[in-house]
Amino acid sequence: MLIDAYGRVIDYLRISLTQRCNFRCQYCMPESGVELGKHENMLSHEEMFEFVKICIDNGIKKVRISGGEPLVRKGAEDFIAMIFAYAPHIDLAMTTNGYFLKSKAQALKNAGLKRLNISLDTLSNEKFRQIARRDGLKEVLEGIEAAKSEGLGIKLNTVAIKGFNDDEFEALMSFAAANNAQIRFIEYMENKHANPELKSMRADEILSKIATFKNFKEITKSPQSPSRLFACDDGYIFGLINPHQCDFCTTCNRIRLSSEGLLIPCLYFDEGKSILAAMKKGDLASAKQILADVLANKPEKNRWQENQISERGFYQTGG
Ligand code: 5AD
Ligand code: SF4
Repeated sequence: MLIDAYGRVIDYLRISLTQRCNFRCQYCMPESGVELGKHENMLSHEEMFEFVKICIDNGIKKVRISGGEPLVRKGAEDFIAMIFAYAPHIDLAMTTNGYFLKSKAQALKNAGLKRLNISLDTLSNEKFRQIARRDGLKEVLEGIEAAKSEGLGIKLNTVAIKGFNDDEFEALMSFAAANNAQIRFIEYMENKHANPELKSMRADEILSKIATFKNFKEITKSPQSPSRLFACDDGYIFGLINPHQCDFCTTCNRIRLSSEGLLIPCLYFDEGKSILAAMKKGDLASAKQILADVLANKPEKNRWQENQISERGFYQTGG
């Protein structure tokens, strides 16, 4: 079992397959994109898989594949199939922008993927182009449809931005309900790579907005999930992720691996340690030791409360 210095059991590994993305969402990347590392400084799927095996052998029960956009990396589905073949009991999920799902949903399902979190901030073509700085709503909606017909579990992630999509919460929620998907509104988290003009909405503002069209009450959430849950009168359940009022550190069960081999104990914002050299050499003993060190140094609390703007981009850690 993987246990950190505060007694938290770590059973959830998030893997960012790539920093690259076909979109340039204003809350995530600058218009010009991001500086990409050299190919030789990336872990291959085989190297990642060797590390995943160590994690699974030591008690990791859930693996989420993210990015950047994970589906821009060639062979993402083969990587998932490798994990599934090794440990079919693992809860295998992916966070994606949905753009490539139309062509990939079936392969992902066949590879053993169970669930998808898909970003959806707007249902307007024009606003989509504005926030993602690319066209793509049509493809994303088709992607959601494809994932649905494969029977993949779907959640939708909506970053709440004042003056941008707060007039669409009702439409987005109806869309999610019609697609049998839970929608999760996410407080925009300021970071160095985002457009500084974006205006965040705090949890109470998001909830007040929703209260103008729905009756709901908060229900008990699963302790490890960062998402608070709310049940509407009609039975629909939506989520709200509000890191600005963090209380999920005490039950945090996750570690993150970046495409460049950085093992990251906390999203906000403690530095990680690299397993790149160890994995390139096939030195699994050192990789195991680095994993132990990172767990021993996983911070008790994130530094969000200290009002620091994050240096690390979400495209590096996959949110
Ligand atoms: N604030 C909040 N959520 C973000 N995401 C990316 N950047 C931010 C940010 N700055 C979300 C995306 C996606 C997931 C990977 O993280 O909406 O759903
Ligand atoms: Fe790409 Fe996701 Fe970042 Fe948008 S939020 S630019 S889809 S990685």
